[in-house]
Amino acid sequence: MADSHFGATALPPDVIRTLQQGIMNWSYRGRPTWKSPIDLALYTDLLWELRPRTILEFGSNRGGSALWFADMMTTYGVTDGRVFSLDIHPVDDLEDPRIVFGHCDVARPQDALSIADLRNLPKPLLVIDDASHVMEHVLSVLRFVDKALVAGDYLIVEDGILTHLGSDEHYRGGPLAALQIFLAESGMRYAVDRARCDAFGRNVTWNPEGYLRCIRD
Ligand SMILES: C[S@@+](CC[C@H](N)C(=O)[O-])C[C@H]1O[C@@H](n2cnc3c(N)ncnc32)[C@H](O)[C@@H]1O
Repeated sequence: MADSHFGATALPPDVIRTLQQGIMNWSYRGRPTWKSPIDLALYTDLLWELRPRTILEFGSNRGGSALWFADMMTTYGVTDGRVFSLDIHPVDDLEDPRIVFGHCDVARPQDALSIADLRNLPKPLLVIDDASHVMEHVLSVLRFVDKALVAGDYLIVEDGILTHLGSDEHYRGGPLAALQIFLAESGMRYAVDRARCDAFGRNVTWNPEGYLRCIRD
């Protein structure tokens, strides 16, 4: 990474490793859900503040996170809220009128969705990239959704923590490398939500630098 401070976290390495084991074993309503307890708290607060009418998630796994998002929307009174959750292996064993599961390969998100589709989604829109975590794939999602996001929307890039787990080489730099490129090229359109990233200490989150407000059309 060009900037050695970018993505630096106050979380000690042994704490990251221990928490990661627990996260991989955690489930919500019987479905594996790979969110850290810290990020569940950050998301809870964000969903209340933003009250998105649409959540677009890349990377469904077993649908646990999509179900949790839908339940949070319902709890917060977003009665017409929708979650679109896309994956290369779409979820096919969960029916919920608030959730649409579908196919997408994040190497080519444009094959699954059109920019017009994205622009027509009810706002505010929350987009979450939680798919392959390969640098080029993260960047392809970010560049794609950038064409449709407007001021007031919100973007989350998950799992920059992989760098601190020592596995970013496996992901060709991973989410943090993609974020650095995207933030450099997208000018002033996005602001890293420092209040959120640093709510529990500097980048004490599985998504360091990964909570982004879209601040300009
Ligand atoms: C980290 S998991 C998603 C976790 C889920 N959002 C949660 O919080 O429980 C990553 C998902 O990305 C999917 N995936 C991997 N490569 C992909 C690709 N090229 N395109 C789309 N999805 C991909 C995997 O099938 C897996 O379900």
